[in-house]
Amino acid sequence: MPKDQALDSRDYNLGQGNWADVGMYIQTIMLAARGLGLETCPQAAWVPYQEAVFRQLGVPADQILVTGMSIGYPKHNAIENTLVSDREDIANVVKYSGFD
Ligand SMILES: Cc1cc2nc3c(=O)[nH]c(=O)nc-3n(C[C@H](O)[C@H](O)[C@H](O)COP(=O)(O)O)c2cc1C
Repeated sequence: MPKDQALDSRDYNLGQGNWADVGMYIQTIMLAARGLGLETCPQAAWVPYQEAVFRQLGVPADQILVTGMSIGYPKHNAIENTLVSDREDIANVVKYSGFD
């Protein structure tokens, strides 16, 4: 396989237009899990450990680790699950244009 063609198949070649694809894919898994009574917690904290994670799971080195995700049945009364964090006001993160 020519070198440039090999590069084209790499996850590293994903561009700006693919950022949303990755997020939507992650969220689809999270929503499907909820439908099955499961809870999830995406964790980008795994990213610096990509090499060790790939070695353990046998993932080829031309892939890229975007996030890990814990998944399991919830224990709602566990102390760590009782924290309810504040939410940013939607007006501070969304700008509506052309809806006046
Ligand atoms: C892709 C992705 C990666 C994340 N990585 C981390 C992480 O590494 N560490 C962390 O504390 N929270 C991380 N978060 C946030 C938590 O998964 C979670 O959303 C946050 O603790 C808020 O939980 P809540 O929405 O139930 O309040 C990440 C979220 C997303 C969507």
